Amino acid sequence: MKAMTYDRYGDPDVLQLTEQPMPRVGPGEVRIQVHSAAVNPVDWKLMAGKLDGLMQAVFPVIPGWDVTGTVESVGLDTPEFQVGDEVMAYARKDFVHGGTFAEYVTVPVRAVARKPEGLDWDQAAGLPLAGLTAYQLLSRLGLRQGETVLIHAASGGVGVLGAQIARNLGARVFGTASPRNHEFLRSLDIEPVAYGEGLTETLQALVPEGFDLVADFVGGVLDVTRAVLRDGGRHGSIVDDGVKQADGLYMWVRPSGDELQVLADMAAQGRLEVPVAQTFGLEQLPDAFRLNQTGHVRGKVIVHVRR
Ligand SMILES: NC(=O)c1ccc[n+]([C@@H]2O[C@H](COP(=O)([O-])OP(=O)(O)OC[C@H]3O[C@@H](n4cnc5c(N)ncnc54)[C@H](OP(=O)(O)O)[C@@H]3O)[C@@H](O)[C@H]2O)c1
Repeated sequence: MKAMTYDRYGDPDVLQLTEQPMPRVGPGEVRIQVHSAAVNPVDWKLMAGKLDGLMQAVFPVIPGWDVTGTVESVGLDTPEFQVGDEVMAYARKDFVHGGTFAEYVTVPVRAVARKPEGLDWDQAAGLPLAGLTAYQLLSRLGLRQGETVLIHAASGGVGVLGAQIARNLGARVFGTASPRNHEFLRSLDIEPVAYGEGLTETLQALVPEGFDLVADFVGGVLDVTRAVLRDGGRHGSIVDDGVKQADGLYMWVRPSGDELQVLADMAAQGRLEVPVAQTFGLEQLPDAFRLNQTGHVRGKVIVHVRR
């Protein structure tokens, strides 16, 4: 099968289109013929070797953890899925090797959800990792209806989903973003605030009683969070482990087919939009990574594997 691979750590120039063996489908796994996959910052952080102390890489590596496609074969004892089912998954494995920027990928069924008919392929590709991250952070912080929430980086891949999930749970949601994204956030019923100088004072003026919950999806904002959180408020980050020293939750997203199904159904009902910034072909993956590396993309960067 064709796949984008790298055989040493580096920047997007190390990526090559190569021929790889078909991944074997083990017990409790399905093999997915990949329709589309999404780029996440973790892909190029892993490729740069920045997470070498955290996860083992087995070269050559096929990067990519987000996938949507069609079940092409099933392993032993996988009654949940049949050949031909349209599915989606956050396909992180225990080591870095057989990812989703390939024609086929195997995934344990516990990480797989059904792609609802009403959800298009691009949205299904962009939802898993980012959506689960946002959902798990807000759930673990115990977000409740009627609370006032601040989302740092509300126009990014994770943040734009987190802000909408918080709205769906009945919260009043403020989100930081560049001014060019403010109108877009308003269209999602999120109250936009420009980040940068004066952010703390602006937020304090908007919500003098303090936020019930603050979710950090960008890092480097702990001082702002502390200044605007009400007494007894909860906060967490997916980037900055320093939050642990400030009674915050630092979280790494876990694969979960069941939770992904909740989000997929929400998206299919039109209650969760996955904005797609740009799409690329498989062999254009280096450009897709470079775009994501700018750190100012609205929503998701999607790679079409099957055309
Ligand atoms: N721990 C985990 O499990 C986990 C899971 C997923 C992601 N992550 C990490 O979380 C981070 C975000 O991921 P992502 O996929 O959402 O990235 P992304 O799609 O690249 O989002 C970047 C967003 O950050 C915004 N931004 C940049 N500087 C900002 C600032 N100072 N204040 C507020 N917003 C700012 C940009 O908004 P503008 O364009 O409006 O400037 C952009 O929309 C990455 O570092 C990623 O590795 C961690």
